[in-house]
Amino acid sequence: IDHENGHGPLAGKRVVITAGPTREPIDPVRYISNHSSGKMGYAVAAAARDAGATVVLISGPVNIPVPVGVEVRNVLTAEDMLRESAVAVDAGCDLFVATAAVADYRPETCAGDKIKKSSEQMSLPLVRNPDTLATIAAREDAPFTVGFAAETSDVARYATEKLQRKKLKMVVANDVSTPGMGFNSDNNVVTVFWPDGQEAIGPDSKQQIAARLVALIGEHLDRAAD
Ligand code: CTP
Ligand code: CA
Repeated sequence: IDHENGHGPLAGKRVVITAGPTREPIDPVRYISNHSSGKMGYAVAAAARDAGATVVLISGPVNIPVPVGVEVRNVLTAEDMLRESAVAVDAGCDLFVATAAVADYRPETCAGDKIKKSSEQMSLPLVRNPDTLATIAAREDAPFTVGFAAETSDVARYATEKLQRKKLKMVVANDVSTPGMGFNSDNNVVTVFWPDGQEAIGPDSKQQIAARLVALIGEHLDRAAD
């Protein structure tokens, strides 16, 4: 594979991708997170690189080697993810792809010391996290923005609703309740929605899904530039 691909569908494009889960600290030894493995995002980063793009990957904590030729910036919390994404987009970005499974809420405060157990029940106040994808898409100089939508029901309805609400160019929907697909799996099956069309991809490996997704984005990027 030619990592200096001057002829690929994303040749010369600057791409920023978020991937993996975020971790929201509760106290020095505990956090809120989710089952995201980061595999889909890392596959999209490698596919964008193979398509000729310069790729910056804003990554939550995952156990995946850094893809050759991709610049990785590691983050932990949703707030870190927004900050690092904004820095990367400020530096120049044609395409922003948000694959990260960002925690929607974080503990209102992080306890300085380990919380000791006491009563039979406890409540933990949570506050909303910033939405990296919506924030980037709302910029006046917004790049071509692509979001993911992991759903367990009414996939098409929720996905198209996210497309409109977040003002995205495309949303990649997957039904995470499908056995063997999505979270933590090596395989996936998705439907890509854009304002006037859709395409089903897979079931296939996340690498193959990412390659087709990048090709599809390439076609639409050119259309947007015409
Ligand atoms: N996203 C983000 N920052 C957040 C939440 C989500 O950048 N704080 C991005 C995800 O990376 C994904 C898209 O937004 O590309 C959709 O995420 P999802 O969790 O499906 O949507 P939400 O808007 O958070 O809605 P909900 O969880 O209620 O379905
Ligand atoms: Ca969410």
